[in-house]
Amino acid sequence: MAVIFSGIQPSGELTLGNYLGALRNFLEYQDTDECYYCIVNQHAITVPQDPKELFQNTRNLAALYLAVGLDPKKVTLFVQSEVPEHVKLGWIMQSISYVGELERMTQYKDKAQKRGESVPTALLTYPPLMAADILLYGTNYVPVGNDQKQHMELTRILAERFNRLFGETFVVPDIKIGEGGARVMSLQEPTKKMSKSDENQNATIRLLDAPDVIVKKLKRAQTDSDNCVRYDKENKPGISNLMGIYRAITKDSYEKIEEMYSGKGYGAFKGDIADLLVDTLKPIQDHYNELINSPELLDSILDEGAAKAHAKASEMYRKVELAMGL
Ligand code: ADP
Ligand code: NA
Repeated sequence: MAVIFSGIQPSGELTLGNYLGALRNFLEYQDTDECYYCIVNQHAITVPQDPKELFQNTRNLAALYLAVGLDPKKVTLFVQSEVPEHVKLGWIMQSISYVGELERMTQYKDKAQKRGESVPTALLTYPPLMAADILLYGTNYVPVGNDQKQHMELTRILAERFNRLFGETFVVPDIKIGEGGARVMSLQEPTKKMSKSDENQNATIRLLDAPDVIVKKLKRAQTDSDNCVRYDKENKPGISNLMGIYRAITKDSYEKIEEMYSGKGYGAFKGDIADLLVDTLKPIQDHYNELINSPELLDSILDEGAAKAHAKASEMYRKVELAMGL
């Protein structure tokens, strides 16, 4: 039995990228492995958040985790800030990280650029906190989208560095990138990843989008002018992204999709993707709507999750303090 850890930030309404790259894959492990799924609200505050929205987004995200089919009897579902070992180990991970290696992270560079003169320090030290999240549980595998590859590499480096400096303590975790949907791109700028913090609403499909909204967003999705459904990431990034979404849901190969839509053009293809997405998201949305009206149930699930996570995390944290002479 392996230990699985993953987290999602409550920094906005989840997108199809979060679903295909992460959330959907969390389900695979719940019957067989020891799973910790976290709502990483302390990562979310590395850029400014409105407190009321952050609180609500945290609860909404808990409901979504459950709505896709995660069972709180089988997995530990919790909020990062409720388990203080995360920031405690995060500080220790900062003490063995170098400013230079953190400044090289592309996510840091992208996000810092948007903040001009006021770059929060925590944006730079985000990866050591992420390493702490993962290492606290003796994690073997981390299911994430491939935008997290660089952070995962650093997590492995920090685990190995700690073990070398203070003796074997941490399990060195592996990344698990799910098949298909590893990187869903923006519908408006298909060379950029789809992100829940994108302000252009047409750029993202949200998991809670109504059917007519999904249809409209797909109609507006950027493509090229040759109207031929053919996979070519370099020269046809827009249509290739849509083909990637189609494939992630149906498991059809690109060759098969090309064959099916040969001579049919983009309109038909976009319409069919919209139908597929509406059908895929409908049961999740129905389940979500039931859960979101039971805040007491959500709170009790999160309380229980935090207690279980705390029990496990505090064991590892104790080992770390002993190893370091703290
Ligand atoms: P976002 O970037 O949308 O704010 P997070 O940073 O909270 O999302 O990431 C949550 C999970 O979703 C991570 O596992 C991440 O790899 C995955 N993810 C985010 N965006 C995408 C995407 N466009 N395609 C595939 N996976 C993604
Ligand atoms: Na993000």
